[in-house]
Amino acid sequence: MPPIELDARASEAARVIRATLPEPPQVALVLGSGLGALADRLADRVVIPYAQIPHFPRPTVEGHEGNLVAGSIGGSPLLVLQGRFHYYEGYDLDEVTFPIRVLQRLGVRTLILTAATGGIALSLQAGSIVCLEDHLNLIGANPLRGPNDRRLGARFPDMSEVYSRRLRTFAYEEASQLGLDLASGVYACLPGPSYETPAEIRMLRTLGADVVGMSTVPEAIVARHAGLDVLAFAVVTNAAAGVSGGLISHVEVVEAGQAATPRLGALIERFVQRLDAEARPLPQQQ
Ligand code: HPA
Repeated sequence: MPPIELDARASEAARVIRATLPEPPQVALVLGSGLGALADRLADRVVIPYAQIPHFPRPTVEGHEGNLVAGSIGGSPLLVLQGRFHYYEGYDLDEVTFPIRVLQRLGVRTLILTAATGGIALSLQAGSIVCLEDHLNLIGANPLRGPNDRRLGARFPDMSEVYSRRLRTFAYEEASQLGLDLASGVYACLPGPSYETPAEIRMLRTLGADVVGMSTVPEAIVARHAGLDVLAFAVVTNAAAGVSGGLISHVEVVEAGQAATPRLGALIERFVQRLDAEARPLPQQQ
């Protein structure tokens, strides 16, 4: 039997989700390592375990739960992917980015990605939050490799503004209202799972990277291919290798992610409310 096409798999997954969520939110959030508790901020939650969604992979990493959670944050609807899939787990990039295809089929328009990262720029510390302005795809593969299905997107999608300037402006404005320091930076995506060596971090700094991680970029590429607007927040959970001389552990990464969750949550809440307000028509003039 030939494999089921990506479009058919995504449509089937979306159909099953719609049986529980007939009108899914148009804004979705992907949670990175240690940031899973952000889903707890949602009111009126409806939880769909990934295991109940056809064709969805299952996360294997500690700190990543596997649930699609719908609800509202500060009164605005939001769909949360609590748990993501990484290339280093052994999934291919089609699997890693499958949830993004399902979001496309659900009618999601805006995608917010979050990630735990190592800080390369000396101005960043553990706990810093960085709004991504661009990325370096250093995974050594591209999720769009292979025959292109035109129903899903263009063969050669433009990547000159992966992270929407308009959405970044909203994020900075809302951060400033909160009195929260929001840095801006370039994310280098490596395949992992080993953390980088100090020499690799020096190389990444030379290449123009401010933070380093093992996720986000495949999802951002597919989201742009799918026509979604993308915004991404990196939480710096540790100084990258060789930057402070300390060793890096996954436990430290998860704990630092958890410590930053309330601040990131407050920012995301305001951002989602802002998007909601911008999408509403202006009140009629009398
Ligand atoms: N390197 C790569 N990925 C990471 C790091 C890091 O230092 N910290 C959190 N995710």
